[in-house]
Amino acid sequence: MNDAVATLVERLGGRMPETALILGSGLGGLVDEIEDAIRIPYAEIDGFPRSGVTGHSGTLVVGRFAGRQVAMLAGRAHYYEHGDAAAMRPALEALAGIGIKTLLLTNAAGSLDPEMGPGSVMLIDDHINFSGSNPLFGEPTDRRFVGLTEAYDRRLRDALLKAAAATGTPLHRGVYMWFSGPSFETPAEIRMARIMGANAVGMSTVPEVILARFLGLRVAACSVVTNLAAGMTGSELSHEETKDMAPLGGRRLATVLRRLFEEGWE
Ligand code: HPA
Repeated sequence: MNDAVATLVERLGGRMPETALILGSGLGGLVDEIEDAIRIPYAEIDGFPRSGVTGHSGTLVVGRFAGRQVAMLAGRAHYYEHGDAAAMRPALEALAGIGIKTLLLTNAAGSLDPEMGPGSVMLIDDHINFSGSNPLFGEPTDRRFVGLTEAYDRRLRDALLKAAAATGTPLHRGVYMWFSGPSFETPAEIRMARIMGANAVGMSTVPEVILARFLGLRVAACSVVTNLAAGMTGSELSHEETKDMAPLGGRRLATVLRRLFEEGWE
């Protein structure tokens, strides 16, 4: 057993979550809804990221959410912090090591569709890795050739759509394109992204999805739209704007996630 798994097993006091939820901007407050919660700062778990992005803390919170055990990750490592696409690998390996089977991811994203404005939520059906990087660079085994044909689990996506419908929450769906960041895109890059088939752009999630599939976890992901992408509004983008706008869609996504956990999925 590696150190992170040993630490978690010891600290979780018998809690055995099978689902982990990585919280992006706007959803951090969800950890406060966990009942009977254990909070473990990342700094106390081997290999967990030391995230320094404002608006992202670094705490693992485990307990009951909407009737089900869950491990929520408030804070994630981003590729743009250090150029290491595999920065979340030890954390995801530790989660798989304690029995996590399903990984749900959320993020903030820029929308390419004027009809999907700030405050919208998009279910990610598929992604485009436009970073030029991959978290499995250097993985020496043939397991590195991970199939991504169904990276985003169909039954989980159906369950999320059902939860959205049941709660009257509009849920868009589309393709998320991963840019490395940290600079925002140019208007020309956004026009390119649209031609390539993207519906939203962002700086996270894709490396974690690749790692999670590598580890055999089932995956689903949703974006909270914080802004229309570069060149679509005439004003400059800013991290402040994305942070300010994230809670709007975050509340909607929280409603869908609560329902998903109440109802469960196959
Ligand atoms: N681009 C990239 N990442 C983002 C954006 C964006 O417009 N908005 C929120 N995260």
